[in-house]
Amino acid sequence: MTKVITYGTYDVLHYGHIRLLERAKALGDYLIVGVTSDDYDITRGKINNKQSLVERMENVRKLGIADEIIVEEYEGQKIDDIKKYGVDIFTVGSDWVGKFDYLNEYCKVVYLDRTQGISSSELRSQTRSLKVLVEGHSPMSQKFVNESKYVNGVEVALDESDFDAIYLVSKPENHYQEVKKLLEEGKHVLCESPLALKEIEAKELFDLAKEKNLILMDGIKTAFATAYARLVLLVKTGNIGDVVSVDVTCTSLADGLAKESSNKWGAITAWGPTALLPIFQILGVNYKDINIISHIVDEKRKIDGFTKIDFVYDKAVASIKVAKTAKSEGEMVITGTKGYIYVGAPWWKTDYFEIRYEDTNKNKRFFYQLDGEGIRNEIVEFVKAVEAKKNPTVIEENVSLAIARVMEKFLENKKYI
Ligand code: CTP
Repeated sequence: MTKVITYGTYDVLHYGHIRLLERAKALGDYLIVGVTSDDYDITRGKINNKQSLVERMENVRKLGIADEIIVEEYEGQKIDDIKKYGVDIFTVGSDWVGKFDYLNEYCKVVYLDRTQGISSSELRSQTRSLKVLVEGHSPMSQKFVNESKYVNGVEVALDESDFDAIYLVSKPENHYQEVKKLLEEGKHVLCESPLALKEIEAKELFDLAKEKNLILMDGIKTAFATAYARLVLLVKTGNIGDVVSVDVTCTSLADGLAKESSNKWGAITAWGPTALLPIFQILGVNYKDINIISHIVDEKRKIDGFTKIDFVYDKAVASIKVAKTAKSEGEMVITGTKGYIYVGAPWWKTDYFEIRYEDTNKNKRFFYQLDGEGIRNEIVEFVKAVEAKKNPTVIEENVSLAIARVMEKFLENKKYI
């Protein structure tokens, strides 16, 4: 029996895929099709497949051409699979000519002519792009513009009178009014967190978005970094036992000192949402007590240079230290009853973290590719949410509300150093 293997993403299955699979099958008696996992595709730069792995596999299965379907998860797996399944022929479309010659050492390699005039990319781009207006000229807006180039289905709107959605950075104290106005005008909004400086205002904005069937997303790029997201899942599955403490530090001096009073973002507005995110996602939003101490640099606008916040929960504590006029180690430590997670500076754009135990032999290291500081994935989620007309669940609404509540507490707070 001649065994044939081929691999692909098979996103929005098309005629080119079917022809390839039919010819692959005809090369032998038994055809194995490897479908790339979502994670593997991300590491090879394919970040916005329209369909999930399950859907893509199901579409290949329904064709009835493959005898066996497997998932391709890592670089180098092809060699493992060829040995494991006793494969005689590896085949793939002619767009890959030469690329897989190294497999000749293990089996015969056949490149089949690619069907002209059709591809998943083309099919994906046929749906109208989401026109996103990028507000302002800040470094953040520039990053958004650069990263959006990697994402299918989105284009930066050049005309201020013709756009579907907006990426808003502006002054935090203006967010509420601006977001409200934009939602009322029927625009989807991705707003750099904090969305509002009062919980009730943030709630009103989410309700308005729902009523208008629009997407409103709180923009915290770290939430979309794979390493961070996996870390939260590992903690939730009990890898370090019960969490006793979450301690987070975020500081930057770059744009802090010189223009203190004209600066739009204080330490708490610039860093607060990012620093609070792991606390609220890991320990929840129902803390028993909160204590805030700040160093204020602009009394009138209540702009802080440094703020420390301590939280007390039923069975845990948490703390954040954020600064724009002071520098510290930007790390995160999550203390558990069995071990702890350590994320080195700058933890908010990390691709790496460790789980450490008393017995150091049990320590584990985790590495996940990080492209564009998480912004790229953030844009992908935003576009997907708009297409699906469903709010993304990466940052839960109650977390966004809790962040706004902390902003409110900060503004009421009178404890200064
Ligand atoms: N293929 C083909 N003819 C096409 C498109 C794809 O023969 N017109 C083949 C590819 O060479 C590969 C397999 O189908 O062997 C799976 O390709 P995949 O990368 O999933 O599809 P593409 O349409 O090439 O996707 P994309 O546009 O995202 O690169």
